[in-house]
Amino acid sequence: MKIISLQKQLGDFSLKIDNLEFEIGAVHGLIGPNGSGKSTLAKIIVGTTEPDFGKINLAPLSQNDITMTSQKPYLLHDTVYNNLIYPLKIRKIKPDESEINSLLDKCGMLDKKKQYARSLSSGEQQKLSFIRAMIFKPKLIIIDETLSNLDPDSVELFENIILDKQKNDPITWISISHQLVHISKICDKIHFLSDGQNIQSGTINDVLLNPSNEIVKKYMSSTEISFNMYNSNKKEKQ
Ligand SMILES: Nc1ncnc2c1ncn2[C@@H]1O[C@H](COP(=O)(O)OP(=O)(O)OP(=O)(O)O)[C@@H](O)[C@H]1O
Ligand SMILES: [Mg+2]
Repeated sequence: MKIISLQKQLGDFSLKIDNLEFEIGAVHGLIGPNGSGKSTLAKIIVGTTEPDFGKINLAPLSQNDITMTSQKPYLLHDTVYNNLIYPLKIRKIKPDESEINSLLDKCGMLDKKKQYARSLSSGEQQKLSFIRAMIFKPKLIIIDETLSNLDPDSVELFENIILDKQKNDPITWISISHQLVHISKICDKIHFLSDGQNIQSGTINDVLLNPSNEIVKKYMSSTEISFNMYNSNKKEKQ
């Protein structure tokens, strides 16, 4: 999947992506400061926002293979169960009840199956939107800060859900997050956006640990003390 010469103007903000490739079957992290264009790019990939110029070559994927979850999930005025099966219902796919129960159980929400979805806590709403995204077996899932309200154990649970999926039946993921420890645990590739442009792409080592770009370097040195601590602890344990 490739983006070439893509442009979108929103007020004073310009998104300008000259060349960005998302390897199929990999977990990608899309990072960068607030307002750098991450959500705008995600909306263009998923097809809810039209670019002004350029095009995304989705091949070998198609628009129907892609879904996205956001920080404030949109939930229907209905039960948890009916929200969860909605992507199946619109595709006329019969829900697999045991799979649904197992997904709900995995994230500790089996007892909330009949609860009004909008009465869930914000973290529970994010969990629901995450498993709802997986339910129709898309080939690309974009997670736009969906795990931001989750407690550490729940973040780890979803990290493991992603890593298990990649082991058994890999798909492509784009995770947008400011939590660099989380990104470094799950991602194969990182793309850094700054002021609407992709200024560096590469492995965790290239982008997070040894950035060549001056802006990325500055961002890494000022933002994530905890990330550096996480990495030095990891090295000590090895
Ligand atoms: N409809 C709009 N009109 C004007 N400006 C907009 C519009 N939509 C987005 N923007 C601007 O585009 C820029 C990029 O927004 P975007 O939501 O893509 O950033 P982001 O990287 O996802 O940031 P965050 O990390 O805060 O979620 C921001 O400066 C935002 O204010
Ligand atoms: Mg955003």
